[in-house]
Order: sequence, then C-alpha cells, then structure tokens
Amino acid sequence: MEDVLGLPHGAFAKLDAEDDELFYEPPRLVCHIDDGAIAALTGFYRTALPPGGVLLDLMSSWVSHLPPEIGYGQVIGHGMNATELAANPRLSRWFVQNLNRDPGLPLGAASVDAAMICVSIQYLQQPAAVLREVARVLRPAAPLVISFSNRCFWTKAVAVWRALDDDGHARLVETYLRHAGFTRIETHRLTEWVEDVSDPMTAVVGRV
Ligand SMILES: C[S@@+](CC[C@H](N)C(=O)[O-])C[C@H]1O[C@@H](n2cnc3c(N)ncnc32)[C@H](O)[C@@H]1O
Repeated sequence: MEDVLGLPHGAFAKLDAEDDELFYEPPRLVCHIDDGAIAALTGFYRTALPPGGVLLDLMSSWVSHLPPEIGYGQVIGHGMNATELAANPRLSRWFVQNLNRDPGLPLGAASVDAAMICVSIQYLQQPAAVLREVARVLRPAAPLVISFSNRCFWTKAVAVWRALDDDGHARLVETYLRHAGFTRIETHRLTEWVEDVSDPMTAVVGRV
C-alpha cells in the first residue's frame, strides 16, 4: 500500500475488507446520482472535455454522463463489472481491473485528451498511485475531472472519506491530485444539497 499522504494509519481501510471483485460481481444498472446532478455534470463535461478527443472514463459503469450531441474520438471505459461496461453505449472499448490491487493503467503515455472519475474516487485505497498513472496517460495540460456527491456504498468507501463532509471531500481530492503531480487544480460546486430534494455535486479538475 502506498504512502498515506500524511493521513493517520487506517485512512484507507474499508468496513467491508473483502475483495472488491465480490462486491462488484452483480451488475448494477442504476443511477447513483439524481437527474439534476447528472444534468449539471453533463453540462460541465460539455465545457471541460475536448470534442473529438480520446477520453478515459475510469471507474465507469453503464452510463458515462457525456453530452449526447458531442462526438469524441474514442471513449475508453474501465470498471469492475463487464456487464455494466458492455451496456454503456458511449464506450468504444473497455477493460475490467481492480485498481486497489493493480493501480497501473494498460495505456500508453500521453495517449488521452481527458479523463473522468465520477462518483467513485472514495473507493480507491491507493489514490495517488492511480492518479499518477492517469497523469502519465494524459497529454500535457489535459484535464482529469473527478466528480462526487454525498452518496456512496458506505462499506466500500475508505475511512478518511467516511470521516469528512462535502468540503472535506473537495480538500481531500485536491490533496490526492497534488500528491500525484497535478499542479493546476480547480474545484467547482455544480449543485447544492437540499435534503430529499437534490444531490450535491462537486467537480475537481486537475491538469499536469
Ligand atoms: C458508484 S459506481 C459509479 C459508476 C459510474 N462512474 C457512474 O457515474 O455511475 C462506482 C464504480 O467504481 C468502480 N470501482 C469500485 N471499486 C473499484 C476498484 N477497486 N477498482 C476499480 N474500480 C472500482 C466500479 O466500477 C463501480 O462501478
């Protein structure tokens, strides 16, 4: 396991310590955030992701939240469940890999124009190692968009995520990015939380 980013011992422990393969074995063809949060993220992607570019949708599922009217050169998907990824109409190709076991990405250096991690960063136990790999595969100045809400699979989120609120999550993701070598980091609040009405959504963008 990687250095702990100055965090206390156990920061990346999960309540459910079983292999992630077991938890993600059944396909979940559901939406993990509400319609307003999805619309806000899609609007953000419209401005942040380069049309025609090669995109990497890490920790993906059957939906990528990309603007439907924009064409991309390729959308490379990654996740834990082949059935979910095969059902995602935006993916040109995809691979299954447990990033907590192997954080290396099977992609060439400087081969991707933008990357996304949507509502999933809280499950990574070696986040800086994974993000360093994302930095390697991104072209210079290309964006990585990490978005998150306040919902998650609680037993699979790392301890430090469970201990923090929305602002704390933003600071934590910024820290991950800095440790991975990203220098230009911006945080955007996309939607506000209204209990039982709307999910909060935040996007942190890093560029090397
Ligand atoms: C809540 S889903 C989000 C899916 C999709 N990004 C979305 O916006 O709906 C969390 C995703 O994190 C990914 N994930 C969780 N643990 C992982 C691990 N150890 N290695 C790789 N991916 C993992 C799985 O692919 C899972 O689909």
